[in-house]
Amino acid sequence: MKWSEFFTSSVGKKFVMAFTGLFLISFLIVHVGINACIFADMVDPDDNGEMFNKAAHFMGASYVIRLMEIGLFAGIILHIVQGYMLEAQNRSRRKEGYAVSMGSKGSAWYKKSMGLLGTLILLFLIVHIAHFWVPSRITYETTLSEVSYNGNAMHDVFSKMVEVFQNGYVVILYILGCFSLAWHLLHGFQSSFRTVGVHNKKWLALVQSVGIGFSIIVPLIFALMPISIFFGWVTNS
Ligand code: HEM
Repeated sequence: MKWSEFFTSSVGKKFVMAFTGLFLISFLIVHVGINACIFADMVDPDDNGEMFNKAAHFMGASYVIRLMEIGLFAGIILHIVQGYMLEAQNRSRRKEGYAVSMGSKGSAWYKKSMGLLGTLILLFLIVHIAHFWVPSRITYETTLSEVSYNGNAMHDVFSKMVEVFQNGYVVILYILGCFSLAWHLLHGFQSSFRTVGVHNKKWLALVQSVGIGFSIIVPLIFALMPISIFFGWVTNS
């Protein structure tokens, strides 16, 4: 089989979904870790986002990380395009294949709703990129203020976060985005590992447990960010 045939086959598409999915999971670990620095303000009220701003500045200033960002966007686009193609293929197969509808029997609803959950995450991502990535990377001269720590000037992304999360509707949208992410990961995490070849019973059990923990804990920490800022548990004053 040629490479071009492999990538357009069902198995090839599943592989692309699994590899890009695992790559996006590793991005989520870094993203949640850096953003969790905002919680330093709960321990030290004088922090005012300093720890987070320094971490975000380090990520933005490194050329390696900026290059990886291009890979990240490519990964997101590939994951979305292949996801829609697989979804369309599965739908037409289901129409052809079964004279009797299976109804909701068989597998959990979120396994069959990966396309819908992915679309909700995509809508969340569009708003999210407009909220933070665009001001941070493109329009920063007019949309971000500057702070200085020990004479080191940098963008005050934390103040942007505090400004964005004053709006209750935005906070609700972020919570819904995190919910969709949790459900999407609940199936996607372990499915990616299966596709790349984890079939051993013991390893599968481990992947399943870690997957459930990851799918709940990571979106929960993300959701706590807008909530903590909205309720003033994390502030910049
Ligand atoms: C809910 C809490 C979240 C907060 C407060 C948050 C905050 C941010 C901030 C401040 C940036 C810009 C960072 C910079 O200055 O470079 C950013 C970028 C980004 N976020 Fe989030 N984020 C959250 C959740 C998520 C989730 C759940 C996803 C994925 C499903 C996500 C995906 C991205 C992507 C793709 C970028 C652009 C790439 C990058 O800058 O590294 N974020 N986020």
